[in-house]
Amino acid sequence: MITVHDLHKHFGGFHAVDGASLSIRPGSITGLIGPNGAGKTTLFNVIAGVLPPTSGRVTMDGEDVTGLPPHTLFHKGLLRTFQIAHEFGSMTCRENLMMVPGNQSGETLWNTWFGRKRIADEERALRAKADEVLEFLTISQIADLKAAEISGGQKKLLELGRTMMVDAKIVFLDEVGAGVNRTLLYTIAEAIKRLNEERGYTFVVIEHDMDFIGRICDPVICMAEGKVLAEGTLDEIKANEHVIEAYLGTGLKNKETA
Ligand SMILES: Nc1ncnc2c1ncn2[C@@H]1O[C@H](COP(=O)(O)OP(=O)(O)OP(=O)(O)O)[C@@H](O)[C@H]1O
Ligand SMILES: [Mg+2]
Repeated sequence: MITVHDLHKHFGGFHAVDGASLSIRPGSITGLIGPNGAGKTTLFNVIAGVLPPTSGRVTMDGEDVTGLPPHTLFHKGLLRTFQIAHEFGSMTCRENLMMVPGNQSGETLWNTWFGRKRIADEERALRAKADEVLEFLTISQIADLKAAEISGGQKKLLELGRTMMVDAKIVFLDEVGAGVNRTLLYTIAEAIKRLNEERGYTFVVIEHDMDFIGRICDPVICMAEGKVLAEGTLDEIKANEHVIEAYLGTGLKNKETA
């Protein structure tokens, strides 16, 4: 579904992504792991059009999508989650969901004057959709709360919910479980699994929590120093000597800086 061919992303002389190649199978939940600074987020940002690559190629369903802007990729069904921005904190959780699908007719002056009925219909449909999403994620109780007031874990679920307001094909999740308690992490994992099974979403998931990865991801791809080190099941990855070496290196570094 997505292929990445010999991708490079340099920041000055620093090679954050250094010749990464990989492919994402349609219908999979692919895990992307690797020590801090491996280049995982940078790789996501290049694939999602947030950053232009230095060189290399990204294709989606066979089409070259290298360097296309995020909104173009969004319309092709490629989404990545973003943290709920501060300015949306004063809106309710339901409103945060309702504003995701762009190009609503309420946005143009013409429609403001001549399309009141249509706007009302669309708003009703959006509201129903948002409520359905909240129910799917088992967080209906936060519908009328301001987004700034909900817990970190609920924000993560709301982020996931935003990807459900449009017809996503492939969703990139960057550390969606970070700072979340076990129970919520489990809820997030279940929501991802259900979206994958029931709605056919393909996922690529960056996460440091190996229980989370092991529970939902197959295959798992491990990156280090901008390169893909290995791909396989989590057990295969854990047994891979290059992977062990890469994690050992940062493990020691972490101890020194701690
Ligand atoms: N805009 C930037 N300018 C300069 N260097 C950057 C920039 N963005 C990332 N880097 C560097 O590129 C390297 C890869 O960063 P990246 O955030 O992609 O790693 P990561 O695998 O997501 O790490 P983590 O697991 O800690 O999130 C890091 O050394 C980082 O400091
Ligand atoms: Mg990162």
